[in-house]
This record gives sequence, structure tokens and C-alpha cells, in this order.
Amino acid sequence: MQKTTIDVHGILNKQVANHGVLYTKMHQHHWFVQGPAFYTLHEKFEEIFQMVDENNDLIAERLIAIGGAPYSTLREYLEHASIEEKPYTKKIAAEEMVATVVADFRTMRDEIAEGIELTGEAGDDVTQDMLIAYKTEIDKNIWMLQAFLGQDPLEGE
Ligand SMILES: [Fe+2]
Repeated sequence: MQKTTIDVHGILNKQVANHGVLYTKMHQHHWFVQGPAFYTLHEKFEEIFQMVDENNDLIAERLIAIGGAPYSTLREYLEHASIEEKPYTKKIAAEEMVATVVADFRTMRDEIAEGIELTGEAGDDVTQDMLIAYKTEIDKNIWMLQAFLGQDPLEGE
């Protein structure tokens, strides 16, 4: 039982780290995106970093409520995130930025899906409910970003 609790903490904290990195990465895209879709994507990336920030707060606060301690420094985010960032040293095409967001969301979606299973096993219905709701939101975002790229939601998985 104790181990399961620790695993639930770990899976939530991994998402805190991912969100910390993605929040900054979405700003990078928001600032540097160029091309005919500039206005659309500039705004969309802002919506995404706001969504990432709100959900990070929900996840971190749930983690505290169940006895955990969320990562709270940039160093910890970078050390523990599955999502990678890189300095903007050369132009990145708008489509490539969108494809990167899809890939990052898919990584998080898979980890959250594991979290849904784990919280089910641990009998933590409340955390499970939060993760299910969030997975719905991520799935929807993946669909829309894929549609922007002219692809089906699951294409290229
Ligand atoms: Fe802005």
C-alpha cells in the first residue's frame, strides 16, 4: 500500500516537472513562431501555456493534499521532466513547433494514462478523476493540433 502511494506521488511529480518545462517551452514558441499562421499560433501557444500553468497548479496542490511535495525549482523540473527543451538558436518552422507540442502532449498523455491505472489500483478516486479529466483535455488538444497539421488525431503515433 505504501509503495502504491509513493508511485502515485511519483507520477504526479513527474507531471509537475513536465509542466514546468512545457510552460517555458510554450513561451519560446509563442515568441518565436513565424509565418502565415503567426496570429493563430501565437495565440494558441499562449492558450496552451495558460492551460499548462493551471493544470500544473491543480496537480501540485493535489500532490500536497495527499502527502507529497511537488518539485518547485527550475533545476528539479529539468532534472525530472520527460519533456525536453532547447535554446532557440535557429529558426524552427511553425509546423515543426506544432508537431513538437503534439509529441510532448502524447508523452504526457501516456504517463497520465499510467497514472489513471495506478490511482485506480491505489483506490485514489479523486486523483484518478482529476487525471481522467485532464487526459480528456490533452486528447482534445492533440486532435486539434493534429488537425492544424492536416493529420488525423492518432496519425504518426
Ligand atoms: Fe505574449
